[in-house]
Amino acid sequence: MRKVLLGAVLILAILLLAALAITRLGLMPVSADGPHSNLEARIMPAVLHASIVRHGSGETNPVSLNEDNLKAAVDTYKAMCARCHSTPEGKASIYGQSFYPPAPQLPKGMAQYTDSQLFWVIKHGIRNTGMPAWGSILSDEEVWQIASLLKNSQDLPPSVEAQWNER
Ligand code: HEC
Repeated sequence: MRKVLLGAVLILAILLLAALAITRLGLMPVSADGPHSNLEARIMPAVLHASIVRHGSGETNPVSLNEDNLKAAVDTYKAMCARCHSTPEGKASIYGQSFYPPAPQLPKGMAQYTDSQLFWVIKHGIRNTGMPAWGSILSDEEVWQIASLLKNSQDLPPSVEAQWNER
């Protein structure tokens, strides 16, 4: 029994030392232009998705789905989001692609989330990435409008599509 305990303590000490060495000796890669490790590329998107699904409770979007709200969302999106997430006909933004992880091209649709999950992630942002918490910059109404836009981006009325090209 004593041997087992001693062994466990030794393993714990070795693990602790290894963790200390890795974190304090500068061995952890921190640059944003390095290749994505396989583990990170597979695990982090799943962690993000699960957290958004868990926290974005089933609130109904209080903003009605109409052309005025969608057009307003296009304007806010162009001003605040497009530089990282690009626009529907635009190429992926080089700026957005320079983050680690890169900013996804959003107007292609976020059908995997509900309005309320999109509201949550836009309002609260994503830590340790380039994605800001927009809750301190945009009103709740503006965030709900953008949530509708992203959710319905595959099926927009022509007048809203035209708004993308307005100056
Ligand atoms: C400065 C760059 C930047 C700006 C500006 C920005 N984002 Fe992001 N955003 C990111 C990055 C980087 C990610 C990827 C984070 C990740 O994958 O962990 C992200 C992720 C997201 C996601 C999650 C996507 C997913 O696949 O789960 C949503 C939704 C989103 N952003 C919406 C917005 C909206 C709406 C705006 C504007 C109000 C905005 N972002 C502005 C950088 C930005």
